[in-house]
Amino acid sequence: MNELNSQSWVASQKLKVAIDGPAGAGKSTVAQQLAHKLGYLYIDTGAMYRAATLLVVRAKVPLDHQMAIAELVSHSTIELAPADANSQSKVQVFLNKEDVSLAIRQEAVTAATSAVSAVVPVRELLVNKQRQLAKDGGVVLDGRDIGTVVLPDADLKIFLTATPEVRAKRRYDELCALGEKVEYETILSNIVARDHKDSNRAVAPLRQAQDAVMILTDHMSVPQVVDTIIKLADKRQA
Ligand code: C5P
Repeated sequence: MNELNSQSWVASQKLKVAIDGPAGAGKSTVAQQLAHKLGYLYIDTGAMYRAATLLVVRAKVPLDHQMAIAELVSHSTIELAPADANSQSKVQVFLNKEDVSLAIRQEAVTAATSAVSAVVPVRELLVNKQRQLAKDGGVVLDGRDIGTVVLPDADLKIFLTATPEVRAKRRYDELCALGEKVEYETILSNIVARDHKDSNRAVAPLRQAQDAVMILTDHMSVPQVVDTIIKLADKRQA
């Protein structure tokens, strides 16, 4: 390969972008818009854990029956597809071929997700799937452990965060828009509890990777955050 060819090959390389952070920091909105602008695939890993949780909730398996949960999830299929332009969700999620894109956003599922996502075989299964989807680059993944566990070799790692009050208000507005009757105070305490569980679990806790860039989004609009990340991505490709 001569020098010119090798340069254009580098410029056209498709990056692996990892976005981690606590609940309600705006990860999925930012990740989806970023992927759209870059022409990349958006992989919402939280949606995969939510789909696994919906399965468990529907089957009424107690949340401390880890073996039964692992067994149930290992016999199911969880798939993601880009959302339709006129869809309410940012990504389409299929559980055993059924479209569960909206069902996985109910508070009952949200509240149980930390427990299901702490089950080691469930994580192994979904992490393998996520790595497989990301292997050729040109992807934006969002979650809790993308930069630390799923893709420690990601080209760009972002840790997106905001204060709990701002995050609770965003989640509240999102659920109201979906027609759910919810209280702001309940959402806030759920968010604080979920952060605590996600950050203190033994396996793949929510943690900022050493080489991640932290962005505090309290006073930033979504386009501002997306532009900031695109500039960082440009630098990685330069
Ligand atoms: O991102 P989202 O809020 O949809 O994630 C739902 C839950 O899934 C999180 O609270 C966390 O318990 C779990 N999760 C995880 N690892 C990821 C993504 C999500 O454990 N990579």
